[in-house]
Amino acid sequence: MVGRLAGKNAIITGAAGGIGLETAILFLREGASVLLTDISEAGLQKALEKAIELGQKASNSRLETKVVDVSKESDVEGAVSHLDSWGGVDIMFNNAGIMHPNDGTELETSEKIWDLTMNINVKGVWYGSKHAVNSLRKHGKRSGSIINTASMVSLVGAATPQVAYTASKGAVLALTRELAILHAREGYRFNSLCPGPLNTPLLQDWLGDDKEKRFRREVHFPMGRFGESIEQAHAVVFLASDESSFVNATDFVVDGGMTKAYVTPLGPATDSPRNLAS
Ligand SMILES: NC(=O)c1ccc[n+]([C@@H]2O[C@H](COP(=O)([O-])OP(=O)(O)OC[C@H]3O[C@@H](n4cnc5c(N)ncnc54)[C@H](O)[C@@H]3O)[C@@H](O)[C@H]2O)c1
Repeated sequence: MVGRLAGKNAIITGAAGGIGLETAILFLREGASVLLTDISEAGLQKALEKAIELGQKASNSRLETKVVDVSKESDVEGAVSHLDSWGGVDIMFNNAGIMHPNDGTELETSEKIWDLTMNINVKGVWYGSKHAVNSLRKHGKRSGSIINTASMVSLVGAATPQVAYTASKGAVLALTRELAILHAREGYRFNSLCPGPLNTPLLQDWLGDDKEKRFRREVHFPMGRFGESIEQAHAVVFLASDESSFVNATDFVVDGGMTKAYVTPLGPATDSPRNLAS
């Protein structure tokens, strides 16, 4: 099969929905073998059904699932070693993350929420990066792509704070940059994906139907709308593929221009593309 990711083996964390699932479907369409991982077994089952239905998987590629809590190193290591029989990891998409409803200002946020957020959003990315490098070396790979999901909140401040989340995503950015430089001559690229606010449950459930909460955000959107997961997934395919062979250590921002905007336009929002799975 000819595809932009033909012959590559990929692991996606947080693959049960949102960015992770849209990416999985595109990866399959581009010829990759994919291990979908998530903490939610039920979510993974549904995601697998969607990926089979929509992924147009090549006959010689694989599609499997594994329950993984990214805050547990043994789980992450297990997912990576699961790919040994496939020929090792080529693409690691460390995407799982949480934004806890009890995360707020520095005064409101409890140590428990801080630690939970850091364990998933930062340690999870560390474990994923570390074991991906181990696998790349073990299998003698001359190239590999690790993509770590950060956020636009790692680039701009907000007066609607979630300090643990923001600090965690800042750590992802710095960690990714350092690893990118460290491993550059091995051919192992590391890039951060920095999504703008999206139309996924992670954010939309939190915003609910609170009009003021929504308005405070929407006024900053140059394109007048939230982003869709598929728009992130297309960027991830590029970062995962050899087309981005000279793209390393970037804060790859996919936010409709939000982090570059001062005064945003008036008028109706642009049309959103449709996600594949939802
Ligand atoms: N939605 C947004 O507006 C937005 C903006 C910027 C960055 N992000 C980031 O994008 C990533 C994906 O989020 P999404 O918007 O697709 O949301 P999502 O909630 O649809 O996806 C997150 C997935 O991570 C899984 N997960 C949670 N804890 C886990 C753990 N400990 N181990 C393994 N999996 C776990 C969840 O079950 C879920 O399937 C996250 O890192 C998030 O912080 C999202």
